[in-house]
Amino acid sequence: MNQFDASLHTSFAAPLPLLDLCPTPDDLRGDVIAGLSAHPKSLPSKYFYDSRGSQLFEAITLQPEYDLTRIETALLQAVLPEIGDSIGAGVHVVEYGSGSGSKTHLLLGGLASVVAYTPVEISRQTLLDTTRRLGRAFPDVQMLPVCADFTRHVPVPPARTPATRTLVFFPGSTLGNFDGPRAVELLGAMRGTMGVAGRALIGIDLVKDIGEMEAAYNDAAGMTAEFTLNLLLRLNREIGGDFDLRAFSHRARWSPQRSRIETTIVSRCAQKVHVAGHVFAFERGEELQVEISQKYTDVSFDALANAAGLHVARGWNSPGDRFGLRLLEIA
Ligand code: AVJ
Repeated sequence: MNQFDASLHTSFAAPLPLLDLCPTPDDLRGDVIAGLSAHPKSLPSKYFYDSRGSQLFEAITLQPEYDLTRIETALLQAVLPEIGDSIGAGVHVVEYGSGSGSKTHLLLGGLASVVAYTPVEISRQTLLDTTRRLGRAFPDVQMLPVCADFTRHVPVPPARTPATRTLVFFPGSTLGNFDGPRAVELLGAMRGTMGVAGRALIGIDLVKDIGEMEAAYNDAAGMTAEFTLNLLLRLNREIGGDFDLRAFSHRARWSPQRSRIETTIVSRCAQKVHVAGHVFAFERGEELQVEISQKYTDVSFDALANAAGLHVARGWNSPGDRFGLRLLEIA
């Protein structure tokens, strides 16, 4: 029996083979204790995505200030025929952080023939919902979902019909949530998943007007603030915390030195918080680092790809250079 058979999980609604490598409460506990003991305090942004966090992220993508998703979707739609020509038939699509799968729907519909689709997603409920929906829309594509943190090595389940190549799909500028060294590491791991004939299709948000970039992470309806602070509610619920949400606020600012939006949770007063059996003291105004969203230029992204042994085979930017898609090959 291999690891795929061992974790075969069947539901009554629709049989779906799920490879379950989702992070456990122990992983969360360890990361939180380490992050809150560090100076400055920090928490990994992947923990935003519990079911509520995934829903809140979808709500963010509907806000007028957060136009990344709409622009990327329109760009993908426009260049899909060219992407299809470069990729050819018989591909196994592997997606990191599949979320709601609306861009995936476009991609699977636009490629000549897709033998299998492997979404790798940290939120189990989001993964199952999305895979079921896509499975109904594309009955000829074998669905091979993996619940996992894609920053760890993720084994790709073999497709029933052998694929001609693997296409790693990494949209949404999720790469931007990783700092330089970690982004290179992640692209390097992706290179391994792609194999020699493989390709990667990556979405990158581009540097633009500072006011517009900051507004995208400080929407007037407060969805981003709710998304950020939901992380504290998750800790309260899952690993025994007593964060008082009224005593913290969301802050997102552009860093010109590092060309990225930096999101923190600010302590509004001096306070002590209990979590995972530990006590952590916050000073008034102290910032807990929770997310970075790197913004790229054509030049900075080329350099990043090259550092990971990849090269940009094709690239497309939206009108006005707001968002880009890059098709990568092994250098
Ligand atoms: C998950 C990378 C698409 O960094 O822009 C949106 C997450 N955080 N608003 C981003 C996010 C706050 C988002 N991505």
